[in-house]
Formats: sequence, C-alpha cells, structure tokens
Amino acid sequence: MRIVISDHVADTCLALTEAMFRILNANPERDIYLAVSGGSTPASLFDLWASRFEHETDWKRIQIFWVDERCVPPSDKESNFRMTFQHLLKKVPFREKHIHRIHGEAMPEEEAARYEHLVKKRLPVENGVPVFDLILLGIGSDGHTASLFPDAMAEALSDRALYKVAEKPESKQKRITMTLPLINAAQNVFFLATGIEKAPVISDLYHQTPAFYKYPVSLINPDHGQLTCFLDRAAFSIASQGK
Ligand code: 6PG
Repeated sequence: MRIVISDHVADTCLALTEAMFRILNANPERDIYLAVSGGSTPASLFDLWASRFEHETDWKRIQIFWVDERCVPPSDKESNFRMTFQHLLKKVPFREKHIHRIHGEAMPEEEAARYEHLVKKRLPVENGVPVFDLILLGIGSDGHTASLFPDAMAEALSDRALYKVAEKPESKQKRITMTLPLINAAQNVFFLATGIEKAPVISDLYHQTPAFYKYPVSLINPDHGQLTCFLDRAAFSIASQGK
C-alpha cells in the first residue's frame, strides 16, 4: 500500500484528484469506471472537483457508480447519492446515462441483485469479475469501509455476491454494499481519510497492529491493482509518533 500524506484536507483531496486524473489520462480512448463512497469525507473532495475542475472535459468519460448506499430514498439526508448530487453531480457535467444510482428506496435484496447485474453488464470483466478503474473508499473510526463492518468480518470473507445487503451495527440501518471480491478486483483503490478522529485507526493500519486485523479495512488487498491511502496530517498524527 502506498501512503500519501498532505498537510490539510484540501491538499489531500488535491493529491487524490491528481492521481485520479493520471488514471483518466492513461486511458484517453475509453470510459473510466469509478465507484465512490458516501459519508462526510468525500464531500470535501467533491467540492474541490466542482470548484476547480468543473470545466474538465474528462467528466464525460467517467461512469460513476456507488460503493454503498443507505436503504433510504434519494431525498433522505442519509442518502449517499443525495450528498454526491449536492456536492458534485449538479455542478459537474457527467453524462446523465453515466450516473448509476443505487436505488436506496427499493427492496434491499432485490436492489443488491439489480445493481450487481448492472455492474456486470456495464464494466469490463477479467476472470469473471467486473473491474473498476478506481474505487474510492472511506475509513470509519471503527475500521469499517464500504458498509463492511467489524462485527461481520467472517461474512465479508465468505461473500461471493458482488453487492449485498448489510446492516450498520449501532443503528441497524440497512445498507447495500459492494463486497470484497469486487473491491479487490479493481485496478486502483484509494482510501481517503482525514481528521483527528481517524488517527487511532490509521495508526493501527500504518503499524499493522493486531487490532488492525480485526478491521474490514485490513481485508482490502487488490488482487492485481494498486492500493493508495490519502491522508492529512491530522489523520496521521498518532501513526507518526510511532505508536
Ligand atoms: C458510508 C460510507 C462509509 C464511509 C465511512 C467513513 O456510506 O457511510 O460508504 O464507508 O466511507 O463510514 O465515513 P466519513 O467519511 O463520514 O468519516
């Protein structure tokens, strides 16, 4: 895993954006398949894209999918699509037909199957698994990523479906989430983690402590692709002390 540390959130997001554009520029002749996560961290990244790169023509080559979605309508404040729409999609010229929303309002099991079928149909496939050019993942302070939670590690390791229904432990909120076989088939996986509240989990990740191996984040190991972790100094502040 490559780790890229920048001083503040803004330059962490810029470093990640530059790496994404390198992927776009390396494949000028075709669409790029991108899957984004939700939560709050990506909002800063999307704001950067909308404010500094809104006229970038390459957006039209990006097919955007979601890593996970809360099982709520797109108008709900919990919706990852709503957050992405507010911060990015209404400001940057993606092609309408390239925006592949997970229908959080649908029956969860049916939607997980529908979305998996869509991904299988739309993406290039290698060894029977669709291959994303880039998957953007967040890291929860409890070590979760996507909607793969620490209380369901064994399930995550046995998943064969590419999307499934999961449940956030505390709130019991149902989620539709990408699973490890699809995540680890990607050409590039980027973690984006910023802020002091992520410092403990990032320290475990950086020092590969025993605790780290209890986190779903530890299961992200692309089979052939490149894993890069983009951090700001606050998120790296405990790791840097050698703890
Ligand atoms: C979600 C995300 C989730 C997120 C982490 C980090 O639907 O919440 O996909 O995996 O990336 O929980 O969330 P923050 O960016 O809010 O810290």
